[in-house]
Amino acid sequence: MNLRRSQYKIGDVPIKALNGVDFTISEGEFVVILGASGAGKSTILNILGGMDTATSEQVFVNGEDITKFNEKRLTSYRGENVGFVFQFYNLTPNLTALENVEFAAEVCKI
Ligand SMILES: Nc1ncnc2c1ncn2[C@@H]1O[C@H](COP(=O)(O)OP(=O)(O)O)[C@@H](O)[C@H]1O
Ligand SMILES: [Mg+2]
Repeated sequence: MNLRRSQYKIGDVPIKALNGVDFTISEGEFVVILGASGAGKSTILNILGGMDTATSEQVFVNGEDITKFNEKRLTSYRGENVGFVFQFYNLTPNLTALENVEFAAEVCKI
């Protein structure tokens, strides 16, 4: 993963969430990403998980640059390569626990 810059915009103000981030994770390696609140940990995980895209630079997974993937390829990338436990569970509040599980299963079939 090599990210010179992954940028959010609040109004007209650009916020560089990841600046000069460059690292490699080998297959089978167990990695902890540690940093202060606001350092960019969630942004890294969202990009690696195919839920967000980098503003510039490259993210190689198994030799392929996932920043070049279109929505369709990102969807299959997420389905086949990514397991994600959300920090705040991302449950739908008006559904029961069982309905939330069924909903997740339906979404994964897409
Ligand atoms: N959707 C967003 N819009 C604007 N700024 C954001 C957004 N998400 C994160 N940021 C900003 O990007 C920086 C990194 O955030 P984040 O990746 O959530 O950090 P961490 O997970 O390490 O706490 C912070 O300055 C945060 O305020
Ligand atoms: Mg976070």
